[in-house]
Amino acid sequence: MPKEILGNARIATLDGPGYGMVEAGALVHDQARILWVGPEADLPAGHADAARRDMGGWLITPAPIDCHTHIVFAGDRAREFEMRLEGASYEEIARAGGGILSTVAATRAASEGDLVAQALPRLDALLAEGVTAIEVKSGYGLEPETELRMLRAARRLGQLRPVRVRTTYLAAHACPPEYKGRADDYMNEVCLPALHTAHAEGLVDAVDGFCEGIAFDTAQIARMFDAARALGLPVKLHAEQLSHRGGTALAARYGALSADHVEYATAEDAALMAAAGTVAVLLPGAFYTLRETQLPPVAAFRAQGVPMALATDCNPGTSPVTSILLTMNMGCTLFGLTPEEALRGVTVHAARALGLSDCGRIAAGLRADLAVWNVENPAELSWRIGFNPLHARIFGGRE
Ligand code: NIG
Ligand code: FE
Repeated sequence: MPKEILGNARIATLDGPGYGMVEAGALVHDQARILWVGPEADLPAGHADAARRDMGGWLITPAPIDCHTHIVFAGDRAREFEMRLEGASYEEIARAGGGILSTVAATRAASEGDLVAQALPRLDALLAEGVTAIEVKSGYGLEPETELRMLRAARRLGQLRPVRVRTTYLAAHACPPEYKGRADDYMNEVCLPALHTAHAEGLVDAVDGFCEGIAFDTAQIARMFDAARALGLPVKLHAEQLSHRGGTALAARYGALSADHVEYATAEDAALMAAAGTVAVLLPGAFYTLRETQLPPVAAFRAQGVPMALATDCNPGTSPVTSILLTMNMGCTLFGLTPEEALRGVTVHAARALGLSDCGRIAAGLRADLAVWNVENPAELSWRIGFNPLHARIFGGRE
């Protein structure tokens, strides 16, 4: 494939310490992989004949990755938003049959085409900010057919747009009305068998659950994780979002890719995550929307060396967010991350949270998934609110 040089750029490789900045840099790719990156003055003779594009001194970063979304769903939850403003809590709404279950009703009634059509504008908003890989969860079906339909819709998104889609099976998101008070039966009769069906159809890249008082306890999640392990699938978990339930320790015990939300996680949880190599996926959009006040233990994650990723958690209930840039800003403003941590959180660490080793940094051999920004300094990406400085989005070397 023809090589191309992206020259006259500032390149935040995120490979190595800090931003891994290369000033007056150039990057050579072959429409798929990065072949070389470094100061343009050092460009090897073997690449000098390739077509060159002048980047006007703009900033190139690895393309953002949204490693936690529920982007496939039907309907909206604007009424629930109003109820929360009138004083109802997220848990009260959920226990009254609203919340996740209201999206379940709308999603069960939607065809695969409806689900794709409703998700596309949300996906396009993310792509407009340079995102080249997203994770999409099921979890609004809570019955085999709809769980599989959601995953098929997610895979379809990756055929309709230039983006990599990783699908996550999240039947253990809530107990559906027909199993009210019988969560173990729901596990046995729906979650576990439908995982096998979805896996046999090649629809599952990872298995997730919601470990919470309004969802499933650690014993129930452990059964899900055992089933995932038997199929060779990686696991991750919505853990310690509303209260401390031991989900993070469980996730670490299973070597989970990530534990997500983790506002109520402790310093001991952080140590277990560090030992297991589990990424902390921070979701400031949900924290903001729920007006949560318990901050995730960022200092403990730093002290223990737990990689922190940031993601939109795009979902109709707790995080109707389709901006990775706003998520970076919220990570800094609400959680006290540095702009460098925020950028790492949506690139290097987001890739790791998805188990992807071929993207998230700029280095020879990795995919040419890049974002070109009309900014001078990488911190500007986190600083602005509601402004999109993306100049070009490059997916597998193609703009
Ligand atoms: O990530 N925590 C559970 N799941 C979603 C919320 C889903 C919903 O309310 O529809 C979350 O916050
Ligand atoms: Fe979520």
